[in-house]
Amino acid sequence: MLIRKGKGVPSSEITPYTAYLRRREFLMGATALTISGGVAEAGLQSSNSAYSTQETPTPLKDVTTYNNFYEFGPGKSDPAANAGALTTNPWRVSVDGLVAKPGQFNLEDFIKPYALEERIYRMRCVEGWSMVIPWVGFPLAEVIERVEPLGSAKYVAFETVVRPKEMSGQRGLLQLLDWPYVEGLRLDEALHPLTILAVGLYGEVLPKQNGAPLRLVVPWKYGFKSIKSIVRIRLVENQPRTSWNQQAPREYGFYSNVNPAVDHPRWSQATERRIGEGGLFARRRPTLMFNGYAEEVASLYAGMDLEKLF
Ligand code: MTE
Repeated sequence: MLIRKGKGVPSSEITPYTAYLRRREFLMGATALTISGGVAEAGLQSSNSAYSTQETPTPLKDVTTYNNFYEFGPGKSDPAANAGALTTNPWRVSVDGLVAKPGQFNLEDFIKPYALEERIYRMRCVEGWSMVIPWVGFPLAEVIERVEPLGSAKYVAFETVVRPKEMSGQRGLLQLLDWPYVEGLRLDEALHPLTILAVGLYGEVLPKQNGAPLRLVVPWKYGFKSIKSIVRIRLVENQPRTSWNQQAPREYGFYSNVNPAVDHPRWSQATERRIGEGGLFARRRPTLMFNGYAEEVASLYAGMDLEKLF
C-alpha cells in the first residue's frame, strides 16, 4: 500500500495560516530562495504526513503549466497564460445551507482556525493522465464540523467564483460550461479525512491556475471533482448539480470515483500517463481502483453498483 498510516500529524508538520502568509511575504522579497528551501522553512516536511504517498511528486513546472480550468479557456496552457488576471485578495467565502452556524468570511479569517498540513496525493484526470502533487491544506471535515450541520444535511455543494471581467473563458460566445462551475460530495465523502481544502502546493501559496486561493482536493475521484477558486460551500439535503454531469450526463456521473473497470463512453480508463515521465512515449501505468486509495475509501461505497452510479 502506498499510503503511510499514522495517528495525528506531528506539530512540526503544521503551520498556522498567518505565519504562512508572513512567510510568503518574506519569500516574495527573497528571490534566491528555492521552493524546497521554502518548504523546509515552513516546517512542512515532505511525505511525512499520515496520508501522503511516497511517490515522487510531479515537477512544479508541469503542475503549474498543464491545467484544466475552463474559466480561463479550454487548452492545457490557457490557465497559466490567463489566470494572472484573477484578483484573489480580498476573497470571501460563505459556508451556509443546512447548518446551525452559517457564516461569511474573509479568506484569512476562514482559514485561521485550521492547521496547515502537507499532503502528497496522486491525482488522476478523467482524460487519462495523472500527477503527484504536494498540496498544503486542511481537512474539509474541520470546516463542516465547525458550522454544525443539521440532521437534514446529506450533501455538500461547492461553487467557484464568477468574474467574466477577470476570467476570459466566462466571456465571449464559446461558453463551454454554465457558470458558476459547481461540484458536490455526499456528506460522508466530504467528511473523509483524505478530503482537503488546499491553499498551497509545493510549500507555496496556491498558484492561480491551480485554483487560488482555495480549492477542493478529493484524491480518489477524477480531477474534475476538485473544484477551484471556491466562494461558497453549502450543506444541502438533495444531491447537488455538478458542472460536467450537466454538460454531458452520460459521460460524467455524480460520483466520478476513479474506476479502471468503468470506461468513459469514448475511451478506456484502464491505464494512465504520469505527466513529467518521458512525455507521450512513456509507458502508461495501470489505473488503480479509487486511484490507489481503496483501502481508505472503499467502505464508503459498500453495496453500491459502481457501474450504475459512476
Ligand atoms: N474547477 C473549476 N472551477 N473549473 C475547472 O474547469 N477543472 C477540473 C478541476 N477543477 C476545473 C476545476 C478538472 S477537469 C481538473 S482535471 C482539475 O481541476 C485540474 O486541476 P489542476 O489544474 O490543479 O491539476
